[in-house]
Amino acid sequence: MELSGARTLVVGATGVLGGALTEALRDQGATLALAGRTEPAGADGEPTFTLDALDLERCAAVVDEAADALGGLDLVLVAIGVAGFGEEAENDVVTEHLLTVNAQAPMAIGRAALARFPSKADGGGTLAMISAILADVPTPGMAAYSASKAALSAWLTATRGGVRRQGVRVLDIRPPHIGTGLADRAVAGTVPSGLKEGSDVGTLVGQVLQALRDDRRTVTFDLRSGEYALG
Ligand SMILES: NC(=O)c1ccc[n+]([C@@H]2O[C@H](COP(=O)([O-])OP(=O)(O)OC[C@H]3O[C@@H](n4cnc5c(N)ncnc54)[C@H](OP(=O)(O)O)[C@@H]3O)[C@@H](O)[C@H]2O)c1
Repeated sequence: MELSGARTLVVGATGVLGGALTEALRDQGATLALAGRTEPAGADGEPTFTLDALDLERCAAVVDEAADALGGLDLVLVAIGVAGFGEEAENDVVTEHLLTVNAQAPMAIGRAALARFPSKADGGGTLAMISAILADVPTPGMAAYSASKAALSAWLTATRGGVRRQGVRVLDIRPPHIGTGLADRAVAGTVPSGLKEGSDVGTLVGQVLQALRDDRRTVTFDLRSGEYALG
């Protein structure tokens, strides 16, 4: 897709990865709308919206509000998410929180976006979401967190097959551990000791931009080689 001029909603623009991707997309000339749990800082005159990911109706409404503000949508990028670790995350309350924020909220946003993308003749649209390497490598000590990311990843895969004929592209971004502080903001538990940082923010952002430009389906990371791959 062409990033310059792309009418783009970033959900989770207040986060470290969402913020870095927002800046990179702005540099590429995308026409932005920004959404966050709190008012996204640093908007350059762009429309901003707030949502709580636990409110699924609000998740869908934000997409409509952004589409109305931008006169349509070409790209919706979802970068919201929460982590949970250890025994403290293995109960119904925390599991529901993880599944809602990491899977159901992005799915609600995605369904709303699919209803607002242009026709195939007008370029279709691109749905891009950050799941995690945990979808490929469910990890002990992160069972519920892994399950929530695997759920989102499965939804993206199935959705991709269903909307291809509409000219809609679906990108599943599955990064390794990146030192953004996400682990310190976990809704429950503490990060297992010895978790190695697999990548840095700038490298991931470069991979995501490349994947968007090239209409790729996945951004994955090989823990053995330490390399990203675009699928
Ligand atoms: N960092 C990693 O190691 C890593 C690895 C793989 C995948 N990921 C995924 O990448 C995405 C971004 O993570 P990050 O590292 O940039 O962490 P981050 O800085 O903590 O960003 C998380 C974002 O999610 C938002 N959020 C959390 N709960 C929310 C809620 N109830 N309602 C609305 N927004 C909510 C946060 O809003 P606030 O700013 O208000 O908190 C923030 O914008 C997440 O999906 C994460 O799972 C991260």
